[in-house]
Amino acid sequence: MGAMDSIFNAMAGNTFPINRFDRDSHVVFFTGAGISAESGISTFRDPDGHWSKYDPMKLAGQAGFQEDPELVLNWYADRRKTICQAKPNAAHTSISNFQKLFRHSVVITQNVDGLHERAGNRSIYELHGNIHRHKCNSCGKITDLAKKNMRTLNRCDCGGKIRPDVVWFGESLPIGTINEAFEAVHNCDLMFSIGTSAQIYPAAQLPIVAQSRGAYVVEINPEPTPFSPQADMSVRDDAGSALPKFYEEFHAQFK
Ligand SMILES: NC(=O)c1ccc[n+]([C@@H]2O[C@H](COP(=O)([O-])OP(=O)(O)OC[C@H]3O[C@@H](n4cnc5c(N)ncnc54)[C@H](O)[C@@H]3O)[C@@H](O)[C@H]2O)c1
Ligand SMILES: [Zn+2]
Repeated sequence: MGAMDSIFNAMAGNTFPINRFDRDSHVVFFTGAGISAESGISTFRDPDGHWSKYDPMKLAGQAGFQEDPELVLNWYADRRKTICQAKPNAAHTSISNFQKLFRHSVVITQNVDGLHERAGNRSIYELHGNIHRHKCNSCGKITDLAKKNMRTLNRCDCGGKIRPDVVWFGESLPIGTINEAFEAVHNCDLMFSIGTSAQIYPAAQLPIVAQSRGAYVVEINPEPTPFSPQADMSVRDDAGSALPKFYEEFHAQFK
């Protein structure tokens, strides 16, 4: 038993079955706001997260945007500024390392911050859009704005209001992306569910579906979630601390 085994035992009370996996295993990294917490980006539902300070319906919904578009645009512009100043952390970087070990690996994220891409991760499915992109609220056309950090209202050629290309409350997820995500999950052998409160559907369904198809699901989150009791392994640790340990374990195993 290596040093890491004892760390995993101490962390989760059971042993990670590393021998079940090889370089051809299909691996999914499913991430939420918590993976970017160590980059200094606020989560949503934590005690000091966005939703404790702001009314989500005003800032991340159609009604709020119609009522006061510039309030909404300013909130996104502030978030975008924070995100641009932030850097990917050890968890994001670790995924890039993992993807060198596992050819068949994808990232499915609920985050809109683009940090996976900046860390060099590949095959990224963004379920909730991307805060750096804008689209027309009426015709859906993606708009390339010269002034990206938009704080005042701009209009599309069709007259529609330009908004961030993120999924708001009450809106559906991009259908192509969610289908591809479910397909990857159907075929996966191992899933890491990282930094998500596992409360927003259909995304929260992904670890459950992975498990029902026989995948081994590791949850990494300093706090318990509704999914924790059924996770194959639930690691109570920060993503930037736990994920590199898993990577080192695989790296040593595959040498
Ligand atoms: N437009 C919007 O802003 C908007 C609107 C609606 C929904 N949403 C979406 O709702 C989703 C909320 O779900 P979520 O699960 O991503 O965020 P969340 O804020 O609900 O949960 C974050 C989780 O991360 C955990 N965490 C905190 N620090 C961590 C660390 N260092 N390492 C690992 N985990 C850590 C927390 O314990 C928590 O469980 C968001 O992804 C967001 O896209 C956003
Ligand atoms: Zn338009």
